[in-house]
Amino acid sequence: KNVSAIIVAAGKGKRMGEGFNKQYIPLKEKPIVAHTLQIFENSQYIDEIILVVGKEEVSFAKTEIIEKYKFTKVVKVIEGGKERQDSVYNGLLEVNKRCQIVLIHDGARPFVKEKIIKNSIDMAEKIGAAVAAMPVKDTIKMVGDELEVVNTPERKYLWAVQTPQTFQYKLLKTAYEKLRTEKVIVTDDAMAVERLGHTVKIIEGSYENIKITTPEDLIIAKAILAKEEGNNAD
Ligand code: CTP
Ligand code: MG
Repeated sequence: KNVSAIIVAAGKGKRMGEGFNKQYIPLKEKPIVAHTLQIFENSQYIDEIILVVGKEEVSFAKTEIIEKYKFTKVVKVIEGGKERQDSVYNGLLEVNKRCQIVLIHDGARPFVKEKIIKNSIDMAEKIGAAVAAMPVKDTIKMVGDELEVVNTPERKYLWAVQTPQTFQYKLLKTAYEKLRTEKVIVTDDAMAVERLGHTVKIIEGSYENIKITTPEDLIIAKAILAKEEGNNAD
């Protein structure tokens, strides 16, 4: 089968508060997005990678990320759009003609593992749509506009979704095309497919597969990297 990965890295990183796209913040001297790309570059299940970056970042990403770290599977570096879903859609238009399975992954999640990639692809092949997720650790409350608690969903049914989110290409393309005509905003890719009434299944992600979003996440990221280095030294 033919598998493409779309790495979305075209956000502004507002919650990080650095004033520039957080994907270029270094971890052990290497930009976050380069850590992410390295995992997909090394994966035996990935045939090609499309990198989606901000409008002004395309040439920078080509030289400072793709050439510098010698990523050979990255076939295109393209411009993203206003919302994450616009960036994903731009990526969907650029995969090769034979693409059967597409993984959408956040550039800001540098700790995804090969096993998660494999399990995602297997499940997407089988049922069409698979998202990595983990059980929530906190109790989650639904609240109203005045911050009054409305209800408390039972925790065992609550999972926090991550990426990769993986699909049969035609299914995701159809889902995104419908979304564009309806002008709805979704917060993850699976939502687009759920709106078609299609089943989406969860595969187990990892608590280390964090999205680097706020400054505290950088502290956690450094700790995860240090742990991984320790493992490699044994
Ligand atoms: N993303 C994207 N295009 C957008 C918005 C987001 O490609 N228009 C990407 C981000 O670069 C990131 C992923 O989607 O890798 C998840 O988004 P998020 O963590 O929200 O990143 P940002 O949007 O950059 O951060 P913030 O919301 O704090 O501004
Ligand atoms: Mg965002």
